[in-house]
Amino acid sequence: MAVADGETSTEQPQKWCGYSRCVIASIMAALVLVAAVVAIIIAANSHSASPGPSPLPFGPLRGIAYAALPCTADNACKQQMPSQDVMQLGYKTQWGATGRNDLGVIKNLGANTVRLYNSLGFGPATDHSGFLDEALKQGLNVMPGIDSDLALHNCTNFDCYETVKAVVKTGFSLGFAKGKDWHPAIHTVLIMNEADFFGRDAKCPGGAPWCRVKAVLSGLDGLLAAEKEAGIRPGRVNLATTWSFNISDSIDGKCKQCPGYFGFQDMLAAVADPSIAKYVPHTPAKDLAAAFDKRWINGLNVQTPWEIVHDVVSKNYGPFGNRSWFIGEFGALNQPHTAIQSDMKAMAELAHNSSDPFLGVTVFQFQTAYQIGGSEMAFGLFGLGKEKVADTGNMCKQNGECGKWPVYCLNANLTHLPASQAERAAAVAKAWGGKVTGTCRNSTVIAETVTEIVL
Ligand SMILES: *[C@@H]1O[C@H](CO)[C@@H](O)[C@H](O)[C@H]1NC(C)=O
Ligand SMILES: *[C@@H]1O[C@H](CO)[C@@H](O)[C@H](O)[C@H]1NC(C)=O
Ligand SMILES: *[C@@H]1O[C@H](CO)[C@@H](O)[C@H](O)[C@H]1NC(C)=O
Ligand SMILES: *[C@@H]1O[C@H](CO)[C@@H](O)[C@H](O)[C@H]1NC(C)=O
Ligand SMILES: *[C@@H]1O[C@H](CO)[C@@H](O)[C@H](O)[C@H]1NC(C)=O
Ligand SMILES: *[C@@H]1O[C@H](CO)[C@@H](O)[C@H](O)[C@H]1NC(C)=O
Repeated sequence: MAVADGETSTEQPQKWCGYSRCVIASIMAALVLVAAVVAIIIAANSHSASPGPSPLPFGPLRGIAYAALPCTADNACKQQMPSQDVMQLGYKTQWGATGRNDLGVIKNLGANTVRLYNSLGFGPATDHSGFLDEALKQGLNVMPGIDSDLALHNCTNFDCYETVKAVVKTGFSLGFAKGKDWHPAIHTVLIMNEADFFGRDAKCPGGAPWCRVKAVLSGLDGLLAAEKEAGIRPGRVNLATTWSFNISDSIDGKCKQCPGYFGFQDMLAAVADPSIAKYVPHTPAKDLAAAFDKRWINGLNVQTPWEIVHDVVSKNYGPFGNRSWFIGEFGALNQPHTAIQSDMKAMAELAHNSSDPFLGVTVFQFQTAYQIGGSEMAFGLFGLGKEKVADTGNMCKQNGECGKWPVYCLNANLTHLPASQAERAAAVAKAWGGKVTGTCRNSTVIAETVTEIVL
């Protein structure tokens, strides 16, 4: 994965002295002491002025999508939906090492990254650094998500500049920043998910492509403004959105019937000429272009087997140069263990190839989404068992609505799926050289009794 990434874009710390200055210092013996003192001062200043590099490697990406809600068929989610902002401390009994230890379970599968969806948006204005600190401690990168629902419920006419600027600035004060830098666990900020979905909303006239593109471009603009106003350095943090693999034309019509990568072309076109998305950026055009060149990576979500995805994207990747791309959701719909395992292995191999722009994958998803039910039942790596392992803390939404839910154990034998597909977690772990840990002590599961709950 040749990258427009942080490892290359992070400012190098200044050396304490240049070559010629060192030579002069060494021959002017009388000045050695003075030079040393000066050098120490420069070194100290340059240290405090440059971002600390994250201890986590940037790639290859081996991630798990994490949106685990404590919803089962027989609990309180029918009456009240918990907040989807799972980074909040109320969820610590799910992800924390002293609770169900989901982050530890993710690490043990062989992952190095956790991908989220609703991290900046409608969650409570409470501390979020606990999740980031725990991820860092486990050796996991974090890809926080800016909530897509903002585009439909807070942005004006898909202009998300003010909304995204506000949620990111709030995020900085809640732990997404450490001093003047992003938290060192943060790898990439995802500006919404499957924004092409906005074309299906009544607010989008005629399903026009500018709706999706304006939402993401204005979100990017708002995020850059938030960094600037809060004085937060970009560091290694990349920016992306994840398009669906649905077939669309790009906004400029250059890419026709392009599954997923219509969005890669959308962004090229809209950064070059924002008017195509009916948008006027606040960030000066050259700064927007520079941030895009340096930090943007291409993302898409798929349910399709890897070979098909790789074939169609790699064949058509020419216009996108050496910019990295990744799969933000690998759904592996209806795939047997053997296929999941071989796909995951093939992806890991390509992600290791530094002459290919493929960065890697995040698997969809950690836990079965019982609260959605229906076809979503096909995607979890883990279901929930009957054994209660904890209670959540008080979990809140921005509107002040709070609640507590029981936390059930993780079940890695998905008996609602055919036997050849029932052990998705094990298939992923095998491909990544990891193992399945932290599961229920007994095999009583609730999955069979699930009824569909419409959100
Ligand atoms: C990617 O390509 C651009 C221009 O096409 C170039 O400036 C940049 O150095 C390249 N980056 C890498 C990591 O190869
Ligand atoms: C969304 O909009 C409402 C009212 O317009 C506002 O009160 C709320 O703070 C906004 N939320 C976010 C996350 O922007
Ligand atoms: C993709 O297409 C399917 C089938 O038409 C549709 O149900 C789904 O909502 C679409 N996804 C997006 C993100 O628009
Ligand atoms: C690495 O990737 C490049 C670019 O896609 C490809 O040409 C090459 O065959 C790959 N190398 C291996 C060993 O797969
Ligand atoms: C398994 O857990 C359920 C729910 O806690 C309990 O009712 C059952 O007795 C347990 N079975 C065994 C064999 O421990
Ligand atoms: C998974 O559950 C099914 C149905 O209860 C059972 O037949 C199978 O042996 C279980 N598999 C494992 C690995 O425990």
